[in-house]
Parts: sequence; C-alpha cells; structure tokens
Amino acid sequence: MKIINGKLIAESLNKDLSIKIAHIKKKYAKTPCLVVIIVGDNSASHVYVRNKEKKALEVGIKSVIVRLDKNIEEKKLLNSIQKYNNNNEVDGILVQLPLPEHINTNKVIDAIRFDKDVDGFNSRNIGLLALGRPMVIPCTPLGCYKMLEQETKLEGKNAIILGRSNIVGKPLSYLLTNKNVTVTLAHSKTKNIEEICKKNDIIIAALGKPNYVKKEWVNGKAIVIDVGINVLKKADGSSSIVGDVDFKEVSKRVAAISPVPGGVGPMTIHCLLLNTFLLARQRNNLL
Ligand code: GUN
Repeated sequence: MKIINGKLIAESLNKDLSIKIAHIKKKYAKTPCLVVIIVGDNSASHVYVRNKEKKALEVGIKSVIVRLDKNIEEKKLLNSIQKYNNNNEVDGILVQLPLPEHINTNKVIDAIRFDKDVDGFNSRNIGLLALGRPMVIPCTPLGCYKMLEQETKLEGKNAIILGRSNIVGKPLSYLLTNKNVTVTLAHSKTKNIEEICKKNDIIIAALGKPNYVKKEWVNGKAIVIDVGINVLKKADGSSSIVGDVDFKEVSKRVAAISPVPGGVGPMTIHCLLLNTFLLARQRNNLL
C-alpha cells in the first residue's frame, strides 16, 4: 500500500510554479494578483483563507484578502466584485464559500468575470469544462486529477466519485471523462454504492461524511482519493480532522490512498495558485 503524499507533491509543484512566476516578473514586470473575498466569520473559512494567503506569498503571488461583514447587502458584494473585475492589476477573484444565507451564491459566482474566475465555478467555465474545452479547471478536481495522474495511466480506467457537488463531484466527473476515464457519479440516492465501489479501479470520496467509506467497499487494487475535511469533536473537548474514508481500515486493503490531512488539501491550494498564474498569463498575453 502506498500513501499518496499530497503535501510533498504540492511542495514540488509549488516550487516549479514559483520559477515560472519569477520569470514573468522579470520579463514583464508582472506580479500575478489574487483577490480572495470572505464574507462573515465562519472560522473554518478564515483558516482556509489564511493558508491560501501564506502559500500565495511563498510562490510570489500577490494576495489581497477582502473581509466583509456577514450582514453585507448582496448588492454591495456584487459591487465589490465588479470593482475587481474592472481592476486591470487583478488576475484572479475567489469568493470563499459558503456565503451567508441571505446572499444568492449563484448570482455571486456568475458575477465574477469568467477570465478571472480562479475557482472555475461560474456557469461559463463549468460549461466549457463539460464540453471538453476548459479555460479554468476547478482547484480540488484538478488537484485530485494531478494526484491520480502520478499514480496510474488513467485512460480506460473505471472511477467512482462519491458526491455530486458543484465544487468537486460534478466538475471532477467532467474532467475525468475528458481524460477517457469511465465515470460513475454516485450520490445519496445511489443504490448498492458498496458493490459499485468494489468494481472500480479508482474511488474518490467527496461527500462530507466522516469515515464513510469502509474496508469492505474496496478491492485490493483500488486507488482511493479522500477529499473530505470533517472536524470531529472528541469527548475531551479537543477536535481532529478526518476524511470521508475510514483510513485506518481502508488503507489495509488498497493499492494507494491519500491521507487527510496532507492529501488533497495542499493540492487544492497549489491548483488555486496555478490557476491564478495561468489566468494572469492568458489575460495579459505573456509567454
Ligand atoms: N469552500 C470550500 N472549498 C472551496 C473552494 O474550492 N472554493 C471556494 N471559493 N470556496 C470553497
């Protein structure tokens, strides 16, 4: 059994990326710039955003965090996005999800200029990905793909994705389909998930249920990617982070598996930085 060390892979990819960024800085005096907008005080979101900022600085991307009050009017948030859409210095805009309930998330996502949409979540970018001609590939799906690509030749393989979210499951199903993988996109109403999982070469768990995938679900040759980030509170008041896969048991019966933490998380951040760089290069016509 091999552990797919996302942290190490991401460190190596970040190093390569920092060289490319240094190059466009030197040649074109252009520093890629990412704006992250966070609304409200969701503590997990604030932790993610701080991590993104730290890594952005490490690779040489300028990062601006915009912290907005949880009661902000939707219109004011849309105006703020518009301001960054029109600011030529800004290359990527990310609105951290989830947003407070009074705000229409779809409207906000679609307000981001499609060529600054580093998450690749807006309807135009998801449509382009589904058609097999992507401009931006959503960060977590791209991170999963990069981990899988290092592990195996993907063409002709069978993969099951657990969870059909707009952020992970759906875009990942398009991405893998484009790469000639045969994809099953399973969800809460799918029957016999356990049996289907057993028949697949690749299992990607992205459903947000702690330790959900069990040892009996996998055949000994499977590659398992765990996208889950679940906070488990212990009896003594402390907490730990676990994935969607029962790692301790499942890892005894697979070919390869990604851990939580240290798996998909660092890869997602790498892909965010990569997307920022690619969009900066594309919009400014830098070679
Ligand atoms: N919240 C959880 N994951 C993500 C992500 O990939 N992008 C954004 N914008 N918000 C998130």
